[in-house]
Amino acid sequence: MARRPIIAGNWKMNNTASEAVELVKALKPLVKDAKCDVVVCVPAIDIPAVKKAVHGSKIRLGAQNVHFAEKGAYTGEISAAMLKEYGVQYVIIGHSERRQYFGETDETVNLRTLAAIKAGLTPIVCIGESLEEREGGLTQKVLDRQIAADFAGIEDFSKIVIAYEPIWAIGTGRTATDEQANETIGYIRKRMKKVYAGKNVGRMRIQYGGSMNAKNAKGLMAQPEIDGGLIGGASLKAADFATVVNFDK
Ligand code: 13P
Repeated sequence: MARRPIIAGNWKMNNTASEAVELVKALKPLVKDAKCDVVVCVPAIDIPAVKKAVHGSKIRLGAQNVHFAEKGAYTGEISAAMLKEYGVQYVIIGHSERRQYFGETDETVNLRTLAAIKAGLTPIVCIGESLEEREGGLTQKVLDRQIAADFAGIEDFSKIVIAYEPIWAIGTGRTATDEQANETIGYIRKRMKKVYAGKNVGRMRIQYGGSMNAKNAKGLMAQPEIDGGLIGGASLKAADFATVVNFDK
């Protein structure tokens, strides 16, 4: 069965609730004929407003993080059940910015991923190497480590999405080439099939993320291993994000 493409916007810490509503309003008519899954991963506090704004459209709601405990004394955190009650369907986990600035580790990425799945959310788990690691020939080693640690205990990989985001391509305008992205995502899929044999890895979608935009989306999406994109900067402009979503037109 072919994997359905999935294009997700990661707004990061951008857009107040009123700005979010404006952006979604502009986006709705532009993506109404999308053939892929369309998701916007918004700041937590924007979720109620965006839930209303996306109503009746193809746009699905995503968050940018989730805590791993069901509830309790974790000041400032948000649980999977809280997201779920607001109609959130997707949640980004382990973004490199969280790993880099907020102490996220492979262990906490794994715990968050398991908690999200348990609550019926679809995690979009981010993995990828730094520039130093790529230049040092360590890309596969880093991915092997993340693959082993971040996904331990998952029984059905059709329920998760991976975003391969080479850190050197995020926010830098320096995209991986189509071939580089395809080759690395192919490697991730092959490795996952080996490590998690018999657990539906063949149905798991793998996105590319890192300076993907209106200009390069078509080329990246034409690659056989690439099932979608996680879009940062270009998801903040309706026309640009819509061009990515409509990569097949
Ligand atoms: P940019 O598209 O801004 O490079 O960000 C990519 C990203 O981090 C998406 O999660």
